[in-house]
Amino acid sequence: MDMLRAANERAAREGDVIHLEVGQPGTAAPAAALDAARAALDSDALGYTVALGNDALRERIALHYGETYGVDLDPTRVVVTAGASGGFIMAFLALFDTGDTVALGCPAYPAYRNILDALDLKRQEIATDASSRFQPTVEHLEAIGALDGLLVASPANPTGTMLRAAELETLAGYCEDRGLRLVSDEIYHGITYGEPAHTALEYSDDAIVVNSFSKYFSMTGWRVGWLVVPERFVRTFERLSQNLFICPSALSQVAALAAFDAREELDTNVTRYAENRAILLRDLKRSGVTNIAPPDGAFYLYADVRHLTNETLDFCHQVLNDTGVAIAPGADFDPQDGSRFVRFSFCGAQEDIVEAGARLKTYLAGINQSGGR
Ligand SMILES: Cc1ncc(COP(=O)(O)O)c(C=O)c1O
Repeated sequence: MDMLRAANERAAREGDVIHLEVGQPGTAAPAAALDAARAALDSDALGYTVALGNDALRERIALHYGETYGVDLDPTRVVVTAGASGGFIMAFLALFDTGDTVALGCPAYPAYRNILDALDLKRQEIATDASSRFQPTVEHLEAIGALDGLLVASPANPTGTMLRAAELETLAGYCEDRGLRLVSDEIYHGITYGEPAHTALEYSDDAIVVNSFSKYFSMTGWRVGWLVVPERFVRTFERLSQNLFICPSALSQVAALAAFDAREELDTNVTRYAENRAILLRDLKRSGVTNIAPPDGAFYLYADVRHLTNETLDFCHQVLNDTGVAIAPGADFDPQDGSRFVRFSFCGAQEDIVEAGARLKTYLAGINQSGGR
């Protein structure tokens, strides 16, 4: 947020800022979603929907699991939410009691930490590094002791790394055997660069899956996402949704349903991300930034820059000041070790990535020549 503010201030002053600090696609919702929303505005009263979301959308989401993962999913287990963020609040409230302990890998999306704290849940952060591709493992869990839940994300933010199929299966089995609730954040599914992502539902009917229309579907501001929950929890989620939110946005549900018919347009976005990723990886590597988490998916590069700085918040301000390129410091994602990492987001327009790569190359060449900052 600080970087975004600083970047916006500089943009107003100098007009030359390239935003690699933000985590949202630069593209609008797909045309089919926009058309459906326009039609609904003209023809539909758009009042409250039922708390769990429109049946047509829940059925379409369930079908998506058959099409994408070969999982036969009963639509009654789908809960439409106000984005993944709304999903987390409901999931944590439904699954845990005050004082319960939830494990999660670190670095991680900062809101996990903040939502758990806000709900008076304890968190057990697992320091991860390149040796486990920045993902938690069963060995980590065994070393911890009593837990009530595990939160995983694959592909993850900020690293983009994924749990391999066998790793996710092992974690899901571990959780099932010990009665731990597994919450699987699958928001970056659809944005992968090699192996496709696997859903926790392939391995456990007990897992709670969190997903959203924000990333692959390019609909961040529409605030619509979904959960898949075990049958026995559906009524609890219905009550939570009814009382906390009444329902997810009616207009956004209409648009989200149509977004499933926009695969071609959405896959074009993913092709652009893949090209952007290659451009930025090339330019960073040529600049000596080579220690980068394996970017299997999402649209981030998480780079260890300890050879350049010990305090990446200052470093990011300096980079912004000297180049106009805004990047995110690691401390938000990892309070312990994050001050040696930065996150580059490559979901923007390709010409911006090319220009940012060129500016960073020149800038880092200057630092390397002067023997560090
Ligand atoms: C890993 C992860 N989970 C969840 C979210 C929240 O997404 P939503 O817009 O669906 O609330 C984000 C947003 O950046 C994210 O990176």
